[in-house]
Amino acid sequence: MYTPESQQYFIDLSKNFLNSPANKEELQKLRDVLIFHERKYYIEDNPLISDFEYDQLYKQLVRIEEEYPGLITNDSPTQRVSTDLSVDFEAVQHTVPMLSLDNSYNEEDLNNFDTSVKKLCGLSSDTDIEYCVEPKYDGGSIALIYENDILVRAATRGNGTFGEEMTPNARTLPSVPLKVKFSDKGIMKAELRGEALIRKDNFERINKEREKDGLTLFANPRNAATGGLRTKDANETRKRGLEAFIYQLAYAIDKEGKSLLSTFETHIAGIQMLKELGFKTPQNEEAVCKNINEVHDLVHYWESLRDNFQYEIDGMVIKVNSLKLQEKCGSTTHHPRWAIAFKFKAKQATSKLISVEYQVGKIGSITPVAKIESVYLAGVTVSSVSLHNEDFIKSKDLRLGDTVLVERAGDVIPYIVKSFPELRSGKETEIVFPEFCPANTTHLPVRLIKEEGEAAWRCPNCLCGTQNLQKMIFHVSKDAMDIDGFGKSYVERFYDLGWIKDISDIYNLDYDKISELEGFGKKSADNIRNAINKARKNPIHRLLHSLSIHHLGKKASKLIAEQIGHVFDLCHWPIERYLEIKDIGPVVAENVKSWFDNASHIDMLKRMESYGVNLTQTEEDMPLELSMDGIFYGKTILFTGTLQTMGRKDAEELAAKAGARNISAVSTNLNILVVGEKAGSKLKKAQELGSVEILTEQEFLDKIN
Ligand code: IVH
Repeated sequence: MYTPESQQYFIDLSKNFLNSPANKEELQKLRDVLIFHERKYYIEDNPLISDFEYDQLYKQLVRIEEEYPGLITNDSPTQRVSTDLSVDFEAVQHTVPMLSLDNSYNEEDLNNFDTSVKKLCGLSSDTDIEYCVEPKYDGGSIALIYENDILVRAATRGNGTFGEEMTPNARTLPSVPLKVKFSDKGIMKAELRGEALIRKDNFERINKEREKDGLTLFANPRNAATGGLRTKDANETRKRGLEAFIYQLAYAIDKEGKSLLSTFETHIAGIQMLKELGFKTPQNEEAVCKNINEVHDLVHYWESLRDNFQYEIDGMVIKVNSLKLQEKCGSTTHHPRWAIAFKFKAKQATSKLISVEYQVGKIGSITPVAKIESVYLAGVTVSSVSLHNEDFIKSKDLRLGDTVLVERAGDVIPYIVKSFPELRSGKETEIVFPEFCPANTTHLPVRLIKEEGEAAWRCPNCLCGTQNLQKMIFHVSKDAMDIDGFGKSYVERFYDLGWIKDISDIYNLDYDKISELEGFGKKSADNIRNAINKARKNPIHRLLHSLSIHHLGKKASKLIAEQIGHVFDLCHWPIERYLEIKDIGPVVAENVKSWFDNASHIDMLKRMESYGVNLTQTEEDMPLELSMDGIFYGKTILFTGTLQTMGRKDAEELAAKAGARNISAVSTNLNILVVGEKAGSKLKKAQELGSVEILTEQEFLDKIN
């Protein structure tokens, strides 16, 4: 173990460090010296040499490695930055699911959490539970895998089960050690969880530079951090100056594959070990509290010091310290029952409401947006705030010229909490909602309508260019088809040029023409082509969501995509079929059905298919919560006919628990068909195919049992 006292890491810079540069041991010593000082600087915030001295040593290493590339090692500090590595964001499965956290906002919530922990652990209400309290970092989650002491994989959280691999990016973070002596602890493979962050001052510097370069500014340090993790250029990650805090040892096995997690008694012991091994862990803000009352005091204490943190934190995380008790508590599919986040109060500031603008959305909804005097809120300058709809304006009694209280709850979306009528001068004026569509692209005034049960006024002119444009902007956005680099400005430009009239045209662009446009070039055109090619292969749940079907959100799109082999299956779905899906209500069902009843929509999808857009169910469209050790794991299943002992939904749930994926049609994709009474065409088709295993209801039950 290296210690600062051991003077071996101080090197006389006046001498050339290596007399014989090809000497492997000497070269490794130089690396160790650099790694030691990196740790002092990046992890312990306690540098022992100046930046200049560090740079001199670093340059020596670069020079020698350039001369003798055969001597470069995987853990060399020079290997953190790679100029030619591109990240393809492959989906990788986490060793254990990366769960989220339940939230609490006050002492009562914390007490309820404490009570539930005691119940789960079978302890009486007067027992004291020991908790570890640490900051809730507001950045991007990361999962790091070390095998045989080497960092072999880094991934984002993704959907919790699968993350996006971004190892080259993570390697550029100085606080992520590339080599760690896990073997000293008997650990052969470990997976760690943590958060990648950008310091507040660093964030401001980055934004100033971006402003100078005419680039769009990041809204907050978190966006800069998560974007930095997911960039395709590892050098860009490095430039953002991300730091990684590790807050959990999620997985640790020895050479025989035996889990070593139980060798730690407490969460804090795991963290201490990681700290000792050279990771950046909570910096003395973590503390062990004897009971929940101590937790109350501590979270309030840290809340009062929130602004003093170098990093954005949006709360504290409270974790049961004993790992045995953690195990007793278990987890839901969403969060561990042994931990909870205590969220700090949202940041608030007062401002003046100057004016209201009206935006037309992708389905014609009119959203009033307040323009306010700029205020700095939790690290972001806010000058526009959505007022949602007319009712919101009325309920808050908002007037032009009012002083208003603005809040940025935890993360991103600013919100008007209230106005201050007592501060009015008498010059404030009423906000008058428009009667006619503000976009008015037809030159004829279109009267807005409000449908029953809806809060928003809508423009009924669905051919309106503005709506169409918004649909295309949504289609390419991150939430929908995620066409990287193809933002709003490109859509507007190609739309103005008449190149894209609806979303299908996006997949039939002429890249030669694009490369000739002012401000473009071959490289930009190639980038667009690559991004579009990637989007062509998207899972169909993304495609469904991207169609701007009223009320069809991400979750419902996924639920529907899980059930279809091909998007055109929906052309034949009656309303009842949608309603069979848990969590799909009549409004979504009606909207999706009527969208698919519209021939012009089907033509558009057909054009998209002919331009290579995927309309068939993919692996990513399949339900995630399949049991991997079930008897049917990896198989697809379909129930047909009337089942005698259970309903269709129960049967499907049982099948999923046994690892099977329920699908809706008989095709060569189908592995098992379970037939109830009066099975009809599906049974016949399966028999004709010959490849499908056909089970009676009883045979199915016998197999599961
Ligand atoms: S523990 C199973 N500890 O918060 C354990 N999470 O809202 C779950 N986060 O995605 C996580 N600081 O990335 C934990 N000290 C901390 C954390 C922390 C930030 C993030 C984490 C997670 C999110 C959940």
